[in-house]
Amino acid sequence: MSKEDNQKVYFGDKKVEKLEKKEGVESIFSKVSDNYDLMNDLMSVGTHRIWKKHFVDTAGIQKDDTILDLAAGTGDIAKKLTKFVSNKTIHLCDQNKEMIDKAIERSLDEGFYNKCNFNVSSAENLPYEDNYFNHVFISFGFRNFSDKNQSLKEIQRVLKPGGKLHILEFSRTNGEMFTKIYDFFSFNIIPKIGDLVSNDADSYEYLVKSIRTHESQEQLCNMLDSNGFQNTKYTNLFKGIVAIHQGEK
Ligand SMILES: C[S@@+](CC[C@H](N)C(=O)[O-])C[C@H]1O[C@@H](n2cnc3c(N)ncnc32)[C@H](O)[C@@H]1O
Repeated sequence: MSKEDNQKVYFGDKKVEKLEKKEGVESIFSKVSDNYDLMNDLMSVGTHRIWKKHFVDTAGIQKDDTILDLAAGTGDIAKKLTKFVSNKTIHLCDQNKEMIDKAIERSLDEGFYNKCNFNVSSAENLPYEDNYFNHVFISFGFRNFSDKNQSLKEIQRVLKPGGKLHILEFSRTNGEMFTKIYDFFSFNIIPKIGDLVSNDADSYEYLVKSIRTHESQEQLCNMLDSNGFQNTKYTNLFKGIVAIHQGEK
């Protein structure tokens, strides 16, 4: 691999400049924002709800904690987090304004706005002061970041000493037969559902490809270690379709 290739990052299954990935990801999430929640249910056959509930329920949140839901999307995680805290201490941050607008609208409709703060900003440049958060959650956002190492440096900066990072992300499945079935569903069925629901097979093809080029469980643990996180560990859910990674500052 040339030195130039090393500077590049995966966007789906192609290597591109970081800025190109950032713009590509922006455009995809702007396109999918209208049908995002419905598509999540269809693609995961509803199981993303179970994964997300487990992710938040097992995080050890205290009622006075200040928490960042990074790459918050339409606010699925933030909504679950609000049940644990007493004050307006949940911060939703996403680089996509359409997604944050959806999260604001939804929080008003579903009655959790009063515990939330909203920011449009990228993970690589967080608009928060040093040592601010007890927890940072990232659910299905990390693989889309254009500069994963820079985002981890930013997360280190904004976490309090002893604060925890929690990442829920698609990962590597185990078991040959299971992986074959999962791959068939991912590459053949998911883009078709995307086409039917949103007339947009391409965005969902990106999502599937981006899962395959994202770091494995061990690679992500190493990445957390090399960015200064301690006590890093992961737990597989559903044979590694998704994994929860954790690390402490
Ligand atoms: C698949 S959605 C996940 C949304 C939500 N967390 C969930 O679990 O449903 C990924 C989100 O990551 C956001 N995102 C992608 N790259 C980002 C970055 N570099 N900084 C902040 N947000 C980013 C996208 O705009 C999108 O809203």
